[in-house]
Amino acid sequence: MLYKSKKRNNDSSQLLTLAIVSACLLITACSSDDADLDVDVMSLAIVRGLTGDPSTGRTLPSIDDPKPQLGKKLFFTKGLGGDDDSACVTCHHPSLGGGDNLSLSIGVGAEDPDLLGPGRLHDVAAVGGVFDGGPTVPRNAPTTFNIGMWDQVLFHDGRVESLSKIAGANGDDGVDGLGIRTPDSEFGVADPRAANDTLVAAQSRFPVTSPEQMHGFSLPTQDTNDKIRDALAVKLAGDIDWGNEFVIAYGDSAISYDRIAESIGEYERSQVFVNSPWKAYVEGNKTAISDSAKRGAKMFLSSIPMGGANCISCHAGNFLTDEQYHVLATPQIGRGKGDDNGTLSNDDFGRFRESQLDFDMYRFRTPSLLNVEVTGPWGHAGAYTSLENMVRHMLNPAEAIANYDFSQLDSTVQAADMLTNTQFALTQLEANRASNFSGVHRNVAFTEADVADLVEFLKALTDPCVKDRSCLAPWIPDTGETGPDGLQLNAKDSTGAFL
Ligand code: HEC
Ligand code: HEC
Repeated sequence: MLYKSKKRNNDSSQLLTLAIVSACLLITACSSDDADLDVDVMSLAIVRGLTGDPSTGRTLPSIDDPKPQLGKKLFFTKGLGGDDDSACVTCHHPSLGGGDNLSLSIGVGAEDPDLLGPGRLHDVAAVGGVFDGGPTVPRNAPTTFNIGMWDQVLFHDGRVESLSKIAGANGDDGVDGLGIRTPDSEFGVADPRAANDTLVAAQSRFPVTSPEQMHGFSLPTQDTNDKIRDALAVKLAGDIDWGNEFVIAYGDSAISYDRIAESIGEYERSQVFVNSPWKAYVEGNKTAISDSAKRGAKMFLSSIPMGGANCISCHAGNFLTDEQYHVLATPQIGRGKGDDNGTLSNDDFGRFRESQLDFDMYRFRTPSLLNVEVTGPWGHAGAYTSLENMVRHMLNPAEAIANYDFSQLDSTVQAADMLTNTQFALTQLEANRASNFSGVHRNVAFTEADVADLVEFLKALTDPCVKDRSCLAPWIPDTGETGPDGLQLNAKDSTGAFL
């Protein structure tokens, strides 16, 4: 059984909406302020080609299918960690918005491997790495929700990317043969391992190779990525219970990392959470969102000369991302990627790290904003812990940096170099503005009411399911079980309650 959302209503629903909009222009009952607002927002939505539903035209798996079911077990096992202490779910738990609710992730060597979210700390006695007491992962963990909607790039710097750049290709480059570039291949060159992968399957080959995320430091460091993956496949194959799980999904008990990657990818791609009030509104339910959210939508969708904030220029389409890179100079906290800006060597150059092209300096991928209410902290380094302040940054980055409140960060997060490093990104932003760089961010004049309206709009992008533990239950293994290898991560919060 496949979750299918066909293209069916696309054109007809737009025509219907146009009809409603034009009807409202004529009928007196629609001439109140509220109706004017609806007309404005719907006209803008139509001009921007929005239908509210990013899953249109895509074939995505159901969580009930065999491969996602196997993928769920793999996603939740610490057995894919080198030291059996970190799983994919460590940083991507459905109850935590598909992320970890931390500014910067903590993978291996945690005080309590099963404690996720605030309160998760590194064990000072843990072996390996250069440890300063803070998070060792340099970037914020993005959500896995709606991950199957990405067609072009994964990661903040797009280091897993489709070379076809064809929107709607579903990340599956078996179709046009150009393939997927990964960190295992040169920039611009397809990775042969990923020849039959979706983007997500290609991505899932990497966390297990990262010492900080999953691999740990006790196994030999000279292992290649392939050796690490093969060793994991052999490790699982040594367990009859895993073999039985693979029989259910694949018909035989052979275990390869290709199969592991595919089933984890299918589990993630089954996380389709798109039924937001905004979608209901665009589809015609005028009471689905508040007036404040409508004012926010109007601002989001309008250009700056029209009095808007032009968010849509980057957060484009129904998935609310152009899948491109931009300089936004969000605060650079954490230990960084080791990039040397001439003053410090713990900066993060973003897309430049991959392309080595000057114009990519400090550019990061535009995130989707679906369910953004539950995917904080925000920014590539998770520097903002409130959506209000994240939005203020998007309206005027330099002002937000100047007003940045360091007390919002956990005390272990490395923030001493924030202002110095971030100034380099701000300077780059200014230079791009001066040269009229295509699509460059421009400051927006705003009031506090504007911020509140924009936040209301962003909250209207939340599918209620992602805030409802019982609705999320199909994606979380029964916490009473231990999984095929006894290493299932049954996550709890700092109070000890199961997530
Ligand atoms: C220690 C925390 C941690 C663990 C464990 C972890 N991840 Fe992640 N994940 C991250 C971080 C941080 C990023 C962003 C890294 C970057 O962009 O440079 C990320 C990125 C991703 C992305 C890309 C999301 C996007 O929007 O581009 C996917 C998909 C993903 N992880 C899936 C997985 C899977 C599958 C596993 C297990 C095999 C896993 N992760 C294990 C922290 C983690
Ligand atoms: C010039 C392109 C551009 C414009 C205009 C823009 N954004 Fe963004 N937005 C980005 C990029 C790129 C990021 C990621 C920055 C990073 O990770 O450091 C981002 C991040 C965000 C985030 C955090 C998401 C997350 O998961 O961390 C929110 C919320 C957001 N933008 C909302 C808005 C709003 C609201 C507006 C309009 C006021 C807006 N953006 C305007 C490109 C843009």
